[in-house]
Amino acid sequence: MQKLEMIYEGKAKKVYRTDNPDYFWVEYKDDATAFNGQKKGTIDNKGIINNKVSAVFFQLLESKGISTHFVELVSDREMIVKALQIIKVEVVVRNIVAGSLAKRIGLPEGTILPRTVLEYYYKDDALGDPLINASHIAALELATPEQMEFIKETALKVNEIMREYLAPVNIDLIDYKLEFGTHKGQVLLGDEISPDTCRFWDKTTGEKLDKDRFRRDLGNVEGAYREVLRRLTGE
Ligand code: C5P
Repeated sequence: MQKLEMIYEGKAKKVYRTDNPDYFWVEYKDDATAFNGQKKGTIDNKGIINNKVSAVFFQLLESKGISTHFVELVSDREMIVKALQIIKVEVVVRNIVAGSLAKRIGLPEGTILPRTVLEYYYKDDALGDPLINASHIAALELATPEQMEFIKETALKVNEIMREYLAPVNIDLIDYKLEFGTHKGQVLLGDEISPDTCRFWDKTTGEKLDKDRFRRDLGNVEGAYREVLRRLTGE
């Protein structure tokens, strides 16, 4: 497959067309942003680490029957994915209170949620990705009710699979964000699954192994990302 011109540049990735219209070529960048683009920086080797970590999770999920856009890794920081029409809903799944949920409901970070919380955000940079509900999604026609039912079920299955996979490497899955899109009429899990999009805490020490180290200036950001990759692959 041939990498052709760039069709989209996001905050963390560049997407290129290929000579096959069914596939995109994705390049993961070292650029990091937080707070809707207000904080900008770079995390050395982040693109390489997130590309590899995402591949591990996508392959894991595929092996458990979840359909994703992942096709194959083509270099340290590039993967081939199925071409998706993105559904403009970001799905956040939460097991333990952190981040914006701590602020919204007033419970301290680290509070274990007795039931998993599922949230939807409207994927719109200009609006700052506002929190929305199923009724907004239907009214804005962002996805059909059937698609949302499938997305909800898939997001919760992903939770079980990832938590079970991360437990033996001593990582708690606090929360994460998923994106979905359609490919030839089928809804597939897209985007990335990495320390940029998940909160990972060491089970024993509670140490943050994710983008909160960048957001909150906690230091050793690259080291934390590397540690996640090391625990998943030994690399
Ligand atoms: O900031 P908040 O607590 O709502 O984030 C919940 C989860 O979703 C975190 O794991 C965060 O990394 C992820 N997230 C993301 N992209 C966004 C917003 C949140 O990956 N635009």
